[in-house]
Amino acid sequence: MKQLLYENFSSGQTQEIKDMLQKAFSKIIYDDSTQTLQITMDNCNLCNSHFIDKYIIIINFLFDLVICMIVGILGCGAIANVLIHKIENKDEIIVKYFYDRDIEKAENLARTSNGTVVLDFHEMIDGVDLILESASQSSVKELVPEVLKKGKDVIVMSVGALLDKDLWNEMKTISKKTGAKIHIPSGAIAGLDAIKAGSVGEIKKVLLTTRKSPSSLGKDITKEEVLFVGKASEAVKKFPLNINVAATLSIASNLDIDVKILVDPKVDRNIHQVLVEGDFGRVVTETENLPCESNPKTSILAAYSAIQLLNSLTKPFNLGT
Ligand SMILES: NC(=O)c1ccc[n+]([C@@H]2O[C@H](COP(=O)([O-])OP(=O)(O)OC[C@H]3O[C@@H](n4cnc5c(N)ncnc54)[C@H](O)[C@@H]3O)[C@@H](O)[C@H]2O)c1
Repeated sequence: MKQLLYENFSSGQTQEIKDMLQKAFSKIIYDDSTQTLQITMDNCNLCNSHFIDKYIIIINFLFDLVICMIVGILGCGAIANVLIHKIENKDEIIVKYFYDRDIEKAENLARTSNGTVVLDFHEMIDGVDLILESASQSSVKELVPEVLKKGKDVIVMSVGALLDKDLWNEMKTISKKTGAKIHIPSGAIAGLDAIKAGSVGEIKKVLLTTRKSPSSLGKDITKEEVLFVGKASEAVKKFPLNINVAATLSIASNLDIDVKILVDPKVDRNIHQVLVEGDFGRVVTETENLPCESNPKTSILAAYSAIQLLNSLTKPFNLGT
């Protein structure tokens, strides 16, 4: 493709292209809502299709080199904050729109990253390639199907919502129709790769044992307590802010998995032990998660996993199952 494009130009023009590239443009944005390309070079912002008419092939060429994804954030709390501060390939992933029902949170985060606050969530759907949902189970139900209907991809953090079978089936049906992808990060657990691979055969048992610090559950206790023993589908309803990984494991294994939640005054972190048995053998993983500063219920690793998922979408290769 690149060779073909060069062949279309005289040597003078080829030099012009090279010069343009050397000017180290910082961003190229394709804005769905206005149907324009925005090219930001050193000091000039060349925007609109008239300019591009002449350089359309060059632009295609540039697009070959730079795949840039515009992202909108739904829910500007702990996870979104970690993401904005830790994301690295900012030329390829442009986090542009911010929405939160608490407008101050959206404004704070938008300010940090030079983004735009939207007052109505629907305003941002047309302008993005992907929405990161990092808000709540209810936001998944109310807003995510709208995103998928418009053919836009979504990363769902509030995975507990997906154990509502009607909602999950509706989302998958819409995605099949529109081609939109639903991405679910591995969150704060290890071993999802093995469980996904293992599910090709038969998975016989999955047990998630979660040990939480009293502060992460807003409790003040001195002795270990068993808080919950039961199925993931019940756990996500009883603890909607705490046990999303149970839903992730259920989706990966296609089982309503067993969950045990303990609150332990001896720990200062969220510990997830995952035991999986299947016809492939057995996997046991344990993750000792440090909490996010601004939300002790949320593990830093969960935010990091969303960042890596986003990174993987702009990479030319896939690692892991
Ligand atoms: N998948 C995982 O492994 C994992 C791990 C941790 C947290 N989570 C989930 O991710 C979500 C975000 O976590 P967090 O720690 O960033 O939470 P947070 O409470 O720090 O931030 C959530 C933000 O979303 C906003 N919000 C909530 N519902 C909304 C709605 N309907 N519309 C608009 N804004 C809304 C809140 O005002 C808040 O600012 C939670 O549902 C949490 O349970 C998932």
